[in-house]
Amino acid sequence: MMRDVVIFDTTLRDGEQAPGNTMTSEEKMQVARQLDTLNVDVIEAGFPAASEGDYHGVRDIAAAVRRPVVAALARCTDRDIDLAGEALRGAERGRVHVFIATSDIHLEHKLRIGRDDCVALAREAVRRARRYTDDVEFSAEDASRSDLEFLCRVVEAAIQEGATTVNLPDTVGYALPVEYEHMFRAVRERVPGADRVTLSAHCHDDLGLAVANSLAAIAAGAGQIECTVNGIGERAGNAALEEIVMASHVRPQVASFRCNVDTRELYRTSRLLSHVTGVFPQPNKAIVGRNAFAHEAGIHQHGVMQNGLTYEIMRPETVGVPQSTLVLGKHSGRHALERRYHELGYELGEGALERLYHKFTALADKKREILDEDLLALLHDGFHDAPELFQISHLHVICGTAGASANVHMTGPWAGERRAAASGDGPIAATFAAVSEIVGQPLEVANLAIQSVTPGRDSLGQASLQAKVNGKSLSGHGASTDIVDACARALVNALNKAHFAERLESDSLNSVYLWGV
Ligand code: KIV
Ligand code: ZN
Repeated sequence: MMRDVVIFDTTLRDGEQAPGNTMTSEEKMQVARQLDTLNVDVIEAGFPAASEGDYHGVRDIAAAVRRPVVAALARCTDRDIDLAGEALRGAERGRVHVFIATSDIHLEHKLRIGRDDCVALAREAVRRARRYTDDVEFSAEDASRSDLEFLCRVVEAAIQEGATTVNLPDTVGYALPVEYEHMFRAVRERVPGADRVTLSAHCHDDLGLAVANSLAAIAAGAGQIECTVNGIGERAGNAALEEIVMASHVRPQVASFRCNVDTRELYRTSRLLSHVTGVFPQPNKAIVGRNAFAHEAGIHQHGVMQNGLTYEIMRPETVGVPQSTLVLGKHSGRHALERRYHELGYELGEGALERLYHKFTALADKKREILDEDLLALLHDGFHDAPELFQISHLHVICGTAGASANVHMTGPWAGERRAAASGDGPIAATFAAVSEIVGQPLEVANLAIQSVTPGRDSLGQASLQAKVNGKSLSGHGASTDIVDACARALVNALNKAHFAERLESDSLNSVYLWGV
């Protein structure tokens, strides 16, 4: 029988927790709006007790996004629950999501409490969360490694106190599908009241089984799946939203569930997240990887040309992969650019169009064919909400086997132009040293990643990094046909964000988690 399954997206909470995926509150808002367009049912917007930034992030998303349920995570403490409840005050439909570990290893070594304490804490937490909303989710962290009888006892207590969703996570990605399915069946059969609540699956991918386990949970009656875009998340990540959704779309009879997600928005959502975080899925990633719809072998190409179904189980347009790749060139005007962005799903205001047209013509001078991917890179080059106060007006590097030197001119919050020359082991290090000298402070850079946006020698290079500016860790992104320039732009982007954040007197840009799952 076909059932409706709730898609609970935790990209902004569990996903964002993963190294390199930190997002500013403005970036989280951008992703939240796209998740709304994607039509997920629940957006877990953050963990308000973790930092002031997270609190504000949840509060702002709860106020801005009206259709989906907005969830906020809390440990089983009064402070956590009150912060989550308060952050959700402006939500149309808010959910407080409380969790506590139930496995012996977590109880003994992490929480240092006994089983009875765990049950009591779970009870009190659900009761307190119900003061804020009727929609309360309870998660038994590390459920898959918990003693089944004890797990059932905790779940029963949570249901008695009014939990409406009960989540049974495979926190460390340890379960095999047959075990995970068995746990759901056992909880459903043994716990009084389990039929009145929505059971939820939350799987990590340490053994590469997160999606398989999620599907097994659905087969055993789970009514909600927790997942992330591109499968980002702690360690090996979480179950990938796009894979679960497409499993139901491509194999409805076998998967036996339906969901509300608009599959045509999957690719756009994946790209937006990648551009925001600078972390791109591997080329062979199912559904959204660069090669997911590429047929290389001649025999496959021939088959697909005769009939797509020979080797394609879904059409690229079903998941929103742009169909025409060759788009614009140096003679294209503002209208053509605006129209192509519109076709790609982006409405540009006048200011944005002007700024992008400027970048587009500069790129078209260097690159003959401008592809959709280039347009997306230009769109996400820099951070549009932060004014470009710092700018590089001149960059000249000399490099070779004996080292490198860079000569940089910059404008910024000071009068006129500042100049500096510096050397380094390579051209990027030398450029960063010169920028650092100009702004008068050390700039620590981590997680620098460079990737080419499209194939070919004249491809745009896209750089992403994490820079520590005034004690805050910020992501920066830049794109250019020159990779040293792309890196310099990414660093300057992080500087502009830091300056913008300070001006807003917001410390929300550096989400430091107080705990780790
Ligand atoms: O993996 C996990 O157990 C979690 C819970 C907090 C839901 O992320
Ligand atoms: Zn998790």
